[in-house]
Amino acid sequence: MTVHIGAEKGEIAETVLMPGDPYRARWAAETFLDNPKLVSEVRGMLGYTGTWRGNPVTIHGSGMGMPSLSIYVNELIRDFGAKTLIRIGSCGGMQETVGIRDVILAMTASSVSTPSRGIFREFNFAPSADWGLLSAAAKAAAAKETTTHIGGIYSSDVFYDERPDLNEQMTRHGILGVEMEAAELYTLALRYGCRALAVLTVSDHLLTGEALPAEDRETTFGDMVEIALQAAFPDA
Ligand code: HPA
Repeated sequence: MTVHIGAEKGEIAETVLMPGDPYRARWAAETFLDNPKLVSEVRGMLGYTGTWRGNPVTIHGSGMGMPSLSIYVNELIRDFGAKTLIRIGSCGGMQETVGIRDVILAMTASSVSTPSRGIFREFNFAPSADWGLLSAAAKAAAAKETTTHIGGIYSSDVFYDERPDLNEQMTRHGILGVEMEAAELYTLALRYGCRALAVLTVSDHLLTGEALPAEDRETTFGDMVEIALQAAFPDA
């Protein structure tokens, strides 16, 4: 047990999928894992461990935003030995070519700031995904009907954004979508020699104002979970 995770040592798998929403962690575990067992519920942040095609997998919520994710990822890596961490979440589209329900595989995650900013000071670190996971996810995604985009995303500290000028520059520079967690996940994974990837479903669009209807969420999010599992275990 750690300060924020109630699991016993050995109850967390080396492969961890991380949705922001704890209820989505429960849904994904109950839908995709065999024998899912609740291993943590500290502060209502649910974590389940089960198996997928015989491989141990934990699905644990990250909460919203990089400070929350940073707490769980630090403990998962440093105290529980997690080695492969895949964010499964939603994002806002930032290109005309990116549609609602599309999947984005985040090659890099730009940011204004992350919880690791204090380490880097004047240095602009470029948080990037693990190539092995990214290429395996691309292969898994190609076998699905969902349109998939691979490229840079923006990890923001704000959902209610007040910088339209900055978003314009992001779009101008090819950023595919905005979310709030991946840059710190990638930074921590790289710091501790782990593998990380963010697989994102476009749930709303900054340019068109469209949003995914609630009833469509489960099916499109299901594709994202399957892509993440197949990326983690390409031979399973
Ligand atoms: N902004 C930030 N995070 C998000 C968004 C957004 O528009 N949509 C889904 N996650």
